[in-house]
Amino acid sequence: MREVAVIGIGCTTFGEKWNSSFRDLFIEAGARALEDAGLAGEKIDALFIGNMSAGRFVEQEHIGALIADYAGLATTTHIPATRVEAACASGGLAFRQGVTAVASGMSEIVVAAGVEKMTDVASGTTVATLAGAADREWEAFIGATFPGLYAMIANDYMHRYPLTREQLAMVAVKNHYNGARNPIAQFQQEINIETVINSSLVADPLRLYDCSPITDGAAAAILTTMERAREFTDTPVKVLASAQASDSIALHDRRDISTLDATVVAAKRAFRQAGLEHSDVDMLEVHDCFTIAEICAIEDLGFCRKGEAGKLTEEGVTSLQGDLPVNTSGGLKACGHPVGATGIKQIVEVVQQLRGEAGRRQVDAKVGLAHNVGGTGATVTVHILGV
Ligand code: COA
Repeated sequence: MREVAVIGIGCTTFGEKWNSSFRDLFIEAGARALEDAGLAGEKIDALFIGNMSAGRFVEQEHIGALIADYAGLATTTHIPATRVEAACASGGLAFRQGVTAVASGMSEIVVAAGVEKMTDVASGTTVATLAGAADREWEAFIGATFPGLYAMIANDYMHRYPLTREQLAMVAVKNHYNGARNPIAQFQQEINIETVINSSLVADPLRLYDCSPITDGAAAAILTTMERAREFTDTPVKVLASAQASDSIALHDRRDISTLDATVVAAKRAFRQAGLEHSDVDMLEVHDCFTIAEICAIEDLGFCRKGEAGKLTEEGVTSLQGDLPVNTSGGLKACGHPVGATGIKQIVEVVQQLRGEAGRRQVDAKVGLAHNVGGTGATVTVHILGV
């Protein structure tokens, strides 16, 4: 296998983007990534586009072809363009497809991107569409929503482990603090514990500020071999590991509903591939679709034992100033969660941190990890990047 590097990154701002269509979002992020790599589009020899549900959100299918066309590469280079779907892990999986294509020698320079436009439909449709990432017959059909499913995880977790309501709120407070330092973030205001605890109840115990929002946005990364990377950039970021794992789609079929086994397995695979220990990792972007999800992620990735992540959060270990900064971008909670784009935005954030380009949220980092979850943990990708 060939060694792979990220040589360009680009992102739109995240939020309710009334003035940009689905295709506009992708083109904006893609153009930024090409500019960052100093590369012409014609040099790209494959496109992998993470997208969960353009069919329901904007009534558009055939996303690979659409993007190739609007990128100007359908009728010129006739580029192979592939849509990748794994619910909220679509971006992480698109990145993994790009890594695999370059590592195997099938492609030389690829774009791995993600895009989602979620705000063009009424919120009932959004919630029902997202519920399609769960088991339709056994969960969504009987009314389970994603806040509802993660609330079940939170209730089980809080029954078994010493996590307080305040510690859960501290995850959101930290991520809003980071989001306030990220110019692309959907929410750029700092909040306090009371903001979270007094916000409206969504699915007990999860409140509005425990949830990631509904978001439009796109992100893109350009990959090539480590050998060729310096043709394009002085700061290539090496892909040290690309891992993926699956679990049952329905929560009730899990061995343990507050441990995401797919995260545990993907993390073990990633650390084995990279030949690294947890202490080698300097920062994490994890899938905090709900505050409880960040708590589980830190533990299931192996950075502490089960039941300890609440205390780590309270002690500030996961803050920008802490020993293990988590979700420096603001995470899904504050940066926003355009589901198909999130996994690539995590990569963009890790690359910015490793290059020293993260501005007011910069941490000291040589190795970063990105963790992307589909559904309640039926698909998980873990990538480790380093300089
Ligand atoms: N955090 C903080 N504020 C939020 C928010 C969030 N997650 N979501 C919305 N808001 C704010 C809006 O900005 C708006 O503020 P304003 O009145 O000052 O403009 C207000 O709350 C109402 O917004 P609205 O869009 O009407 O919210 P909603 O009640 O329709 O939706 C949720 C709120 C939490 C139900 C929705 O964001 C949601 O379903 N989130 C989870 C998404 C999800 O499941 N993703 C997949 C995970 S795997």
